[in-house]
Amino acid sequence: MTTATKSSSKPKIESKKLIVVDDTPIDQQIEHLIRTHKELNITRHRDANLKLKQGADHDGAKLLPEASRKRLEDGGIDLSKGYPEVPDRNDIPVFVDQAYAIRDYDVSFDDRAKHADPEKKALFGAAKEVINLTDKVGTEIVGLQLENLTDQQKDELALLVAERVVVFFRDQKLSPQAQWDLGDYFGNVEKHPQVPHVTGLPGATVIWNDYKIQKGLDLNYSNINMSNWDSVRHLPLGNNAWHSDLVHERQPAGYTHLHLDTIPETGGDTMWASGYAAYDKLSDNFKKFLDGKEAVYISAHSYLDRKDPLGGTKRVERIHPIIRTHPATGWKSLFVNRGMTKRIVGVSPIESDLILNFLFDIYEKNADIQVRFKWRNTKPGYGTSAIWDNRISTHRNVWDHEGKSPRHGTRVTSLAEKPYFDPESKSQREALGLPLKKWE
Ligand SMILES: [Fe+2]
Repeated sequence: MTTATKSSSKPKIESKKLIVVDDTPIDQQIEHLIRTHKELNITRHRDANLKLKQGADHDGAKLLPEASRKRLEDGGIDLSKGYPEVPDRNDIPVFVDQAYAIRDYDVSFDDRAKHADPEKKALFGAAKEVINLTDKVGTEIVGLQLENLTDQQKDELALLVAERVVVFFRDQKLSPQAQWDLGDYFGNVEKHPQVPHVTGLPGATVIWNDYKIQKGLDLNYSNINMSNWDSVRHLPLGNNAWHSDLVHERQPAGYTHLHLDTIPETGGDTMWASGYAAYDKLSDNFKKFLDGKEAVYISAHSYLDRKDPLGGTKRVERIHPIIRTHPATGWKSLFVNRGMTKRIVGVSPIESDLILNFLFDIYEKNADIQVRFKWRNTKPGYGTSAIWDNRISTHRNVWDHEGKSPRHGTRVTSLAEKPYFDPESKSQREALGLPLKKWE
């Protein structure tokens, strides 16, 4: 660092106020600065205005809606420590290579759906009702408590999710720990290095936009959907862009379980779309073109480049097949989402943009492959669960209530296998013997 200047007209930097850190490499100096200076915020989660303090938040605990407080306290969470808990500043990656190194190794995964009775007699036999909400996607199970399922029923539930994309359970008495345990049964529970989680329970991510708005997130009726036009220029806010969770992981998300314990009287729905049905919307020729192709998938969060720390932020990038085969159903699925699929490998950027935008539209414009779920409050301490399969779907929140009434819940994500494409696998319609349109 230099303070010398030959021109007397230029202001001098007072060197005594600067800390000259010797010849320590610049990346280490920057990492040290970021970790030790609280004003250099590293927990902003895609939004420059969002400022989260590390540790459990005593102010946050005071904001908790009553029904959520009851569920958390009934579930053994000590709210006197604060809520939610933001990971320690020292554990949050600064450089993209640090973020990339998290889970950059093979982890064994055994899809419980492969162990299930295809007829699901144990699960369906115990349920009061099984309601398919649309033809292609979404099933509600009535009369069962998730916390009490046997292993056999859990395996059948996994297969049902793998087939129906998303399965709902209302009126659930479910502690965060029980939700975590179910996620652990379904795969490897993801512990996010950056986002707030239930105090004392990393892996139980807190879904609470009202809290983020309190902490500075600029979420409003006018900007919530902008990333559904252009997710590069307008970063996704509050999960309102169509997306799939954690696609930048070496082994991305499989089963994800969102449990909402406080729900607006009107609004705050969530939508899902089926990747099996999206694939089946394509012509035979276009399916052949995409089969076996790969794409680059990026993380939602940004980090610095160690080799160019002042050159702007970078995302974690990983390459996966664009059409993937589900290990339990064996069906092919279109694995793209507008927020986090960056480009198709092996074609020009112009071609990639055109094709990807078309593929995003397949998911987003075809109402017949979507379900829109209305969550509903039941009684304090009880909530509603949605369990979906990220490998074969995209989803989004609908923030139409504009925060007028609170919405709070917890999410546990189970990481699954490394995505693969089996050329011998079939589409859902092929496998089920449904008619397929032949374009002349
Ligand atoms: Fe999500």
